[in-house]
Amino acid sequence: MTARGISGLVGPLLSVSKTRFVCLRRVTEHHRTPAERGSGRGFSSTRRLWDAPGESSSADQVTVHFINRNGEQLTATAKEGESLLEVVVNQNLAIDGFGACEGTLACSTCHLIFEKDTFQKLDAISDEELDMLDLAYGLTETSRLGCQVHIKKSMNGLTVRVPMDVSDIRRQLEVGKQSKQ
Ligand code: FES
Repeated sequence: MTARGISGLVGPLLSVSKTRFVCLRRVTEHHRTPAERGSGRGFSSTRRLWDAPGESSSADQVTVHFINRNGEQLTATAKEGESLLEVVVNQNLAIDGFGACEGTLACSTCHLIFEKDTFQKLDAISDEELDMLDLAYGLTETSRLGCQVHIKKSMNGLTVRVPMDVSDIRRQLEVGKQSKQ
């Protein structure tokens, strides 16, 4: 049999195999579980708070200190662009109840108090953040919500204080609803 004759016989078989392979790949992709597709997600939030820290070089890293309610200083290494909430969560810092709404501006549990100099250099505050801050315990003139403040290189060495009390406005609303019933 000539070479042409052999390829005439084998050609159709090869194209069937290729089609099957493509179909199988599609089926495999389709049946991956949500955990397999979205591994690396922390809270059940719609956006990903915690990217792997391996992608930034040490030149992009900023040191941030948090003083927690016990007066302990917790030091973290943050990446430029991360919010202070993401820093606390990604590095598992011991701050009880911090960031209960996962940065959706619905709780005020990420309330932080800044030093005056730093506070003045922060980006402008939105009306939504102001509204939520009004509901925070222990509000000061230099208070901000940690989920709304993003790390810049100029913040290297920043120290922020966690207020003594925390209020989750969602719980207060829930209690209010129940007492009306
Ligand atoms: Fe809830 Fe910031 S995490 S308002």
